Amino acid sequence: MVLSFSYHEVIDSTNSEILRLMRTGIPEGTVVSAGQQTAGKGRSGHSWESPSGDSVATSIALYPAGLSDIVLPRLTIIAAVAVAEAVEELYDLPTQIKWPNDILVGGKKICGILTERMTEKMPMSAGGVPVIVGIGVNVHQHSFSHEIAHMATSLDLELAGCGRDATKTSRKDVTESIWQHFAAHYEKFVAGGGSLEDILDMYNSRLVSVGELVRVLDPAGEYEGKCIRMDEVGRLELMTDLGLRSIDSGEVSVRGIYGYV
Ligand code: BTN
Repeated sequence: MVLSFSYHEVIDSTNSEILRLMRTGIPEGTVVSAGQQTAGKGRSGHSWESPSGDSVATSIALYPAGLSDIVLPRLTIIAAVAVAEAVEELYDLPTQIKWPNDILVGGKKICGILTERMTEKMPMSAGGVPVIVGIGVNVHQHSFSHEIAHMATSLDLELAGCGRDATKTSRKDVTESIWQHFAAHYEKFVAGGGSLEDILDMYNSRLVSVGELVRVLDPAGEYEGKCIRMDEVGRLELMTDLGLRSIDSGEVSVRGIYGYV
């Protein structure tokens, strides 16, 4: 995949911009980033804070071909691994992954990922399915709104917290590194028919709460279980009172017993 990058100071949402561009005809690997989003989108209809110049907001156009719909949510898992690799490589900060796709540094969320699959045919999608993967990374923020302050952090806050130089972080470096790592894994993912084999060990070695009790917030009723691992198809395996359960990310969210992790 050939990556091409463009940048806007202010935009509504980089995912929305990629969608507009897809409709006009852009190749796979087109990346749009922004310094500020005025209508950043989060998962489950939530909004996403992208204040001026403080964070990475970046999205890519993809047209994966020959894959069944069921494997497409796994692109979010690949993106999570790519963010973890970028943060570790650039700043030597250890990361953890909170299933399915929150990247944590110092136990707090540093990144959010929103994958959107489009049903309309696009001029350059050929036989593939149009998919947009959007990533937000907190880089320079020194504080967060009251609602998310207990669970959010930024690269600068974490570097400063361990007495390191927090003036060298670069949103451009973070953006480029993420998509380079993502592209390498994406090519293996598509060639492998949607297999997560390439990233499974990398993912599980960073999975948070392994061996600990977690609470599953299932609309059909909450329950607890010991976190085991993410399996080959992206489900979280838990040992519960009723035995081993494998949960799909679409249905539920998982919390620590006492809080976010
Ligand atoms: C989450 O709720 O955790 C996902 C947040 C995803 C935010 C990113 S920022 C870049 C891209 N553009 C958007 O509007 N959202 C995603």
